[in-house]
Amino acid sequence: MSATIVHGPGEASKGFAEGLGRSLGLDVVGCESKLFPDGEAYVRIPQDRLEGTAVIVHTMARPQDRSLLEVLMLVDAARGLGASRVTVVAPYTAYARQDTRFLSGEPVTVSAVLKSIYAAGASSYFTVEIHKEYSLRHFPGRAYSVRPFTYMARQVGLGRGLLFLAPDMGALSRARELASSLGGDYDYLVKRRDRRTGEISIEPKEINASGREVVIVDDIISTGGTAARAARSLLEAGARSVTVMAAHLLDIPGNVERLIEAGADEVVVANTLPVRSHPRVRIVDVAPRVGDELVRQGVINRINT
Ligand code: R5P
Repeated sequence: MSATIVHGPGEASKGFAEGLGRSLGLDVVGCESKLFPDGEAYVRIPQDRLEGTAVIVHTMARPQDRSLLEVLMLVDAARGLGASRVTVVAPYTAYARQDTRFLSGEPVTVSAVLKSIYAAGASSYFTVEIHKEYSLRHFPGRAYSVRPFTYMARQVGLGRGLLFLAPDMGALSRARELASSLGGDYDYLVKRRDRRTGEISIEPKEINASGREVVIVDDIISTGGTAARAARSLLEAGARSVTVMAAHLLDIPGNVERLIEAGADEVVVANTLPVRSHPRVRIVDVAPRVGDELVRQGVINRINT
């Protein structure tokens, strides 16, 4: 079963695709891209034919709407070049947090995103740590969210005996997984968000953090408000140190600084999006972890490795 990796525009997609190519021993082709004078996007896969499976690697970074459209265009282009199957690897799925009609009249945007990728011609969809795994049911083909945290923790050398904390109950399984794979404890905080204002509060909860090295684990750092509030309350409760770990660090000015100001020692994130370099941010290349999952799920064979 032959396969070719094709990546979308931008350094983040290129870097991720190259990591995937190295770990799987597959060729990587970059797309050509430009913007027309009116702002419309153009992409081209510079090949005459694609044999077997095409793996389109493109993250839905800002501007998210254009990135999504580029995914759709690349899927269509790959089908046009004769690929028998198209798998999309989108390290970050934009709009995944609009997974419910929180207020009447709202769309379930993640559903529209995933259905459009399937309709363009992709039969499978892989992403990293989607906000809520149940969102994947909206993709009519095979969809998979790769959990990166144990891999990330091992890559940065996190040891045993840590306290892993989810900032809300919905994220508890992330902390539980880390505690069981590394050997440590886990718990969750109680977070509330006002759906209209977006204002977050972390309510006090009995957690014995005194003297502990704590890792706050979440899918995403957006403004940094959630993890900063959590870090502050844990340090006030006597935690020895706080590390913040997330799969996705969004490009929002000041978010890392907010975490550092709140007392976090270090921020550990995956390379699912373009990340500004910062002395306290460690970026883990999770492409090999995604590659393992593509092989395990039978999407492609590993060759030359
Ligand atoms: C929310 O449910 C998510 O899991 C994150 O906790 C949230 O999106 C982080 O946002 P922010 O960094 O703006 O607090």
